[in-house]
Amino acid sequence: PLVSMKEMLEKGKENGYAVGQFNINNLEYIQAILQAAEEEKSPVILGVSEGAGKYMGGFKVVVAMVKSLMEEYGTTVPVAIHLDHGSSYEKCEQAIEAGFTSVMIDASHSPIDENIAITKKVVELAHSRGVSVEAEVGTVGGEEDGVIGGINYADPKECVRLVKEAGIDCLAPALGSVHGPYQGEPNLGFKEMEEILNLTQVPLVLHGGTGIPTKDIQKAISFGTAKINVNTENQMAQAKAVRKVLDEKPNLYDPRKYLGPGTEAIKQTVIGKMREFGSSNRA
Ligand code: G3H
Ligand code: ZN
Repeated sequence: PLVSMKEMLEKGKENGYAVGQFNINNLEYIQAILQAAEEEKSPVILGVSEGAGKYMGGFKVVVAMVKSLMEEYGTTVPVAIHLDHGSSYEKCEQAIEAGFTSVMIDASHSPIDENIAITKKVVELAHSRGVSVEAEVGTVGGEEDGVIGGINYADPKECVRLVKEAGIDCLAPALGSVHGPYQGEPNLGFKEMEEILNLTQVPLVLHGGTGIPTKDIQKAISFGTAKINVNTENQMAQAKAVRKVLDEKPNLYDPRKYLGPGTEAIKQTVIGKMREFGSSNRA
C-alpha cells in the first residue's frame, strides 16, 4: 500500500536497518524499484526531485504512474512517494495535493530561524493529511538538479531546534555526504551523527548514498540512520547497460530492446542496496 514514511522509518530505527529512497526518473525506474521491493519483501521510498517530477509530466502524472503500477503488480509492501529536496512551501503543497505521501522541505540554505519557520508550516499542512516530513540542516556536497553546494556540517544544536520546534518526522543532518560520486572515500561525521541521534531521537536520513562503503553504511545505521537516499548509482547502472546494448548492436532501434536491460540493471542495483541496508524481508 501507499503510506507515509513515518512508520517504516520508526521500525527501521528500532530494529537496526535503513529503508532506501530510490529516486525515480521515468516509468522504468518505478517498474524496476517496485519489482525489487516486492521480490525482496522490503519497504521502499520512491524519491521524486522537482526536476524529475517536471520531466515525468508533473506530480499528478507521477502519482498516477505509481498507483497504477502498484495496482497492476498487486504490490503488498509499504511504498512512500516522497518529494526530494522540496525547495518551497508551495512545491510541498503541490506534491501533497497531487497525492504524495511524504515530502522533504529543504530550506537548509536559509538561516536556521527561517528554515524552522518554513519547515513548521509544511509540517502543519502535511500532518493534517497524514503526510510525513523530512527536513535538512547543513549542506550536502555536490550537485542536485543543477544546484552545486560545498559541504557544510550540520550543527547539532540547530538540529535539535529544527526537530523540536518544527515537529518533523525525520532529519537529514548533512555530515560530509555528497550527491553524485565521491572524490576518494567519504568522510562522514559519525561523532556528530551520534550526538544528533542522542539529542533528537528521530530517524536520521543519509543523503548521497552512492559510493558510501558498506562499513560506513553499517555505522550510520547503528547511529540511527533509518533512510538512505540513492540516485546516481541507479542512473550509472542503467546508462552502462543501455550503452552496452547500443554499442554491441548499432542497428538496434526498438526502445524496449535497449531500455529493457537498463531497467533490469536498476532492479538488480536496488535489490543489492536493500540487502545492504537490511530492509529485505522487513515488509
Ligand atoms: O536526495 C537524493 C540523494 O541524496 C541521492 O544521492 O545521487 O549521490 O545517490 P546520490
Ligand atoms: Zn539528497
